[in-house]
Amino acid sequence: MTRQWWKESVVYQIYPRSFNDSNNDGIGDINGIIQKLDYLKELGVDVIWLSPVYESPNDDNGYDISDYTRIMSDFGTMEDWDRMLQEIHKRNMKLIMDLVINHTSDEHNWFVESRKSTDNAFRDYYIWRDKPNNWESAFSGSAWKYDKTTNQYYLHLFSQKQPDLNWENPDVRNDLFTMMKWWLDKGVDGFRMDVINFISKDQRLPDGEANNGKLYASGHSYYMNGPRVHEFLQEMNQKTLANYDIMTVGEMPGVTPEQAKLYTAESRNELDMVFHFEHMDIDSGPDGKWDIKPWSLVELKQILSKWQTELEYEGWNSLYWNNHDQPRVVSRFGDDGAYRVESAKMLATTLHMMKGTPYIYQGEELGMTNVRFNKIASYRDIETLNMYEEKINEGAEEKALLETIHAKSRDNARTPMQWDSSANAGFTETAPWLQVNPNYVDINAASAVADPNSIYHYYRKLIALRKKYPIVVYGSYELLMPESESIFAYTRELRNKHLLVVSNFTNEFVHFEIPKDYLKATKIIGNYHERNEKLEQKLELKPYESCVYYDADF
Ligand code: GLC
Ligand code: CA
Repeated sequence: MTRQWWKESVVYQIYPRSFNDSNNDGIGDINGIIQKLDYLKELGVDVIWLSPVYESPNDDNGYDISDYTRIMSDFGTMEDWDRMLQEIHKRNMKLIMDLVINHTSDEHNWFVESRKSTDNAFRDYYIWRDKPNNWESAFSGSAWKYDKTTNQYYLHLFSQKQPDLNWENPDVRNDLFTMMKWWLDKGVDGFRMDVINFISKDQRLPDGEANNGKLYASGHSYYMNGPRVHEFLQEMNQKTLANYDIMTVGEMPGVTPEQAKLYTAESRNELDMVFHFEHMDIDSGPDGKWDIKPWSLVELKQILSKWQTELEYEGWNSLYWNNHDQPRVVSRFGDDGAYRVESAKMLATTLHMMKGTPYIYQGEELGMTNVRFNKIASYRDIETLNMYEEKINEGAEEKALLETIHAKSRDNARTPMQWDSSANAGFTETAPWLQVNPNYVDINAASAVADPNSIYHYYRKLIALRKKYPIVVYGSYELLMPESESIFAYTRELRNKHLLVVSNFTNEFVHFEIPKDYLKATKIIGNYHERNEKLEQKLELKPYESCVYYDADF
């Protein structure tokens, strides 16, 4: 396995709308990010992944791009962006941009042209058909929209304002590659590629299998990891990525480890790593994310461990609990009440001691929690609003829907970053575009930075350990006690060095039998400070306790 800077890095994701508002219009912006770069440097992260800041009508908060080479005015100007990049590089950090190229906005000039007539030069930049198939959009309803000008339908896997690009058309690919080169030449250090495994559609566009009389069906098997996706990515790599020292991560719903190896094996020259969703799906039933079911630790361990071992020799993992689309992890897999601090640290330990590149989503380092707005009007996310409307029309109860939204809405991740205990959490001095979580009075960066025992400082230590011990980055992985319903324990090994990671996922005391070889090991981090440095054979773990032991000797 080769050494690479991006394998040794920790990435921090910024969702710019919610990060920091410098001009008090209620919306986070680029100058607001610049003001907080020292905070990020202090935390110890190496790379910033910036969610889209391109020109966009904001149907999906910037994931609907109308001009790839301009900055959305809400966020500032290109001069601001240039200065931000300089300031990031000055601090020895790197910047990766979000690249949304499965679709554009319907206000992108290509689409404005495309919809004008069937013989327009840009017609084939998108996917037009006389008749829609039965695919369902990720944001509810049909994935096809009728356009009366030309009496045809266009495909939109996401919102109606996000028409899918037609990657079969070489002009589309060339234009996108030219745009990517433009950003790379400006000095960006890589890309996070939005739903990049959706770009190749089965050209027959067959109906999906409809469930119990439902109108729409999933078309996943016809566009996730589609027929030409590897060919397209290899072409992209050759024409753009290969010429720069950058990192790439592909967002890939529905990807399996077998496919991930094809996307990330170094010999194949596609991408560096992928985001899979298997661990994010463990609390979803057969009807998808809103069909909430209880999750099990045994399954969580089985999934994460499978990815660890499958990508041991080939490819590379990204490690994450959170992003702008997911509920807050401490509310989801931890305890956001009495054990918020302990469980946030425990979850961080469990993830950051694994093999792969860790990602921290803004506010995760503070243990920010889900929010519970009590009326739908407080929500902004298009996925949430569309689902709500659809279900209300089908006769669902508002109260039950709100419960679901409290658990799963993307707005859980998007409430403004909690900087301090002043009004609006110090995010803005006016009404923010999405209300702050009222718990900002207690949970905020100012108090976390001031408290040496905070979650924030714990993340700093985890990041520092990754830098200090190569075993954390490159060691092999082995799961212990796969059947335990309370403990997540694993070991790492690199050239006779060993690491033991033990986490209690419950709010009860549990016992853990230390493997004999580790009895001489030393604790290098843990979330309860009373714990002895030396190991006893039988460890009694406190609620949500997590510890890491290191031994260089056996
Ligand atoms: C990705 C993004 C999500 C967006 C969707 C469509 O899943 O992470 O925020 O809505 O793609 O671009
Ligand atoms: Ca602003």
